Amino acid sequence: MIKYLFYLCCCIAVLNSCNKKLELGLITEKAMVVSARVEASEIGAAILKKGGNAYDVMVATHFALAVVHPVAGNIGGGGFMVYRNNDGTKGALDFREKAPITAHKDMYLDSLGNFIKNKSVLGAHAVGIPGSVAGVVEVHQKLGSLPFSELVQPAIDLAKNGILITEKQADDLNNATARFRKVNNYKTVFDKEWKADDVLIQNDLAQTLERIRDFGRDGFYKGKTAELFVNYITELGGIITYKDLEKYEAIWRKPIEFTYKNHNIISMTLPASGGICLAQILKSIAPYDLSKIKHNSTEYIQLLTEAERRAYADRAHYLGDIDFVDVPLDSLISPAYINKRMSDFSWDKATPSTTVSHGKILGYESDETTHYSIVDQFGNAVAVTTTLNTGYGSKVLVKGAGFFLNNEMDDFSSKPGVPNVYGLVGSKANAIAPEKRMLSSMTPTIIEKDGKLKMVVGTPGGSTIITSVLQNIINVVDYNMGMQASVNQPRFHHQWLPDVIRMEPNGFNHNTKTNLNNLGYDILERNSLIIGRVDAILVLPNGKLEAGADKRGDDAAVGF
Ligand code: DON
Repeated sequence: MIKYLFYLCCCIAVLNSCNKKLELGLITEKAMVVSARVEASEIGAAILKKGGNAYDVMVATHFALAVVHPVAGNIGGGGFMVYRNNDGTKGALDFREKAPITAHKDMYLDSLGNFIKNKSVLGAHAVGIPGSVAGVVEVHQKLGSLPFSELVQPAIDLAKNGILITEKQADDLNNATARFRKVNNYKTVFDKEWKADDVLIQNDLAQTLERIRDFGRDGFYKGKTAELFVNYITELGGIITYKDLEKYEAIWRKPIEFTYKNHNIISMTLPASGGICLAQILKSIAPYDLSKIKHNSTEYIQLLTEAERRAYADRAHYLGDIDFVDVPLDSLISPAYINKRMSDFSWDKATPSTTVSHGKILGYESDETTHYSIVDQFGNAVAVTTTLNTGYGSKVLVKGAGFFLNNEMDDFSSKPGVPNVYGLVGSKANAIAPEKRMLSSMTPTIIEKDGKLKMVVGTPGGSTIITSVLQNIINVVDYNMGMQASVNQPRFHHQWLPDVIRMEPNGFNHNTKTNLNNLGYDILERNSLIIGRVDAILVLPNGKLEAGADKRGDDAAVGF
């Protein structure tokens, strides 16, 4: 019997250590790229090996993702980038899409003022002016070191030579076929029954990338590409003009910076709501001693949910494009305001969202994205989240130019109280106006500790982006997890409205869920529910880098 028990203990110990090993991400000495596809990460890592810096890698990885990850990687969308140089200087670039010049507040309402379902999601009317190419070119001009053409070429080769479709991609593409057909007036290259290991060749896209390689931003916003773009949008009844394309500019912004338990968090500012909501939530939970609260326990989920509920209520009311509306940024993250917001939180029962509105500010008037994280051998770090909004965006594939256009117009609040595809509601602050940028949840984030780089993180996931980044920060900072272990944790999400905690299936203890129900929390758990695809890098105490590449997708890390 004793012998049997001994063997059992040994087996359990071996299994435990295997599990821990399985939870370890790729570890490299000094440089790494983590992205949604191995081909894109490999292209980025090859640029690092050539001596390129993190900004060169951003250019190469971004264009590669536009080829190998068409569901979200893009040149027809937009995004946000946060960076930290090895000398500690930091910055952020906003290459978010903007509304066309002739857009107007009620453009998705019918004559009776009712919201026209799908007009902001599917087809030419859903498209915002893309910012990706302007953004990537801007980053290269300011911070890159290798010739631009060398950074675009690998993506061109990939588009011409073809990529192997993964099983997940085949499913995604097959699910979207009917909508590709509905929206486009020709048979697109994506229009077939896909299976794993099929080859996808994108010659039109390769030619567009060649024009970008040769003429930089003018290869996209002017000349042949612009002509194909505007002609096709016009053919489909859309409102984007040459002037819209010509006028697009990416904007350098000051990132949001705040401290959480001796860590300095640097994240994206408006028109991305990620940084500000993250600051609100982390500051709301900071007074609680998480070392006494078990990870993913009833109390843990309760605390985060209540902080999230209040932050998302503020998001809906106050946040919009800071170049168009007055947003009380400092007040929203001030300690006095945050304390007041959490003052009605009770461990005894849920605070129903119907009783939570936005807080009062004194003196104030008034299903695809992708993220990649980069650390180079020089110590520079880059976090980029970029998107077409939902998978393949508006499903419009520019005829002759081979790239999908976003459906980012749906991120505006088309009508107060009417939720967008992510269930987010908004107010005047996020109403449509000509050339305004729609509010985003994207949260590319970099973390420093003791003045040194500690972590680079971000994810897709619409409204769940903020809470996925949040949980990964807490996993590492409060629960001391490694990067891959953190990314592997099951995730949950609350966003004020609808008043429900979304949970990934099979990740949470049955008793925990019962306890939460008894406290008044509604839980939504669906088999297919995936919350985010986090791609992150952690600097280990010995200076090496550990990847967290999300197994929820085809994500992969490459480095040396
Ligand atoms: O900017 C935003 O918040 C959304 N357009 C992001 C969409 C997204 O993450 C979809 N991915 N799963």
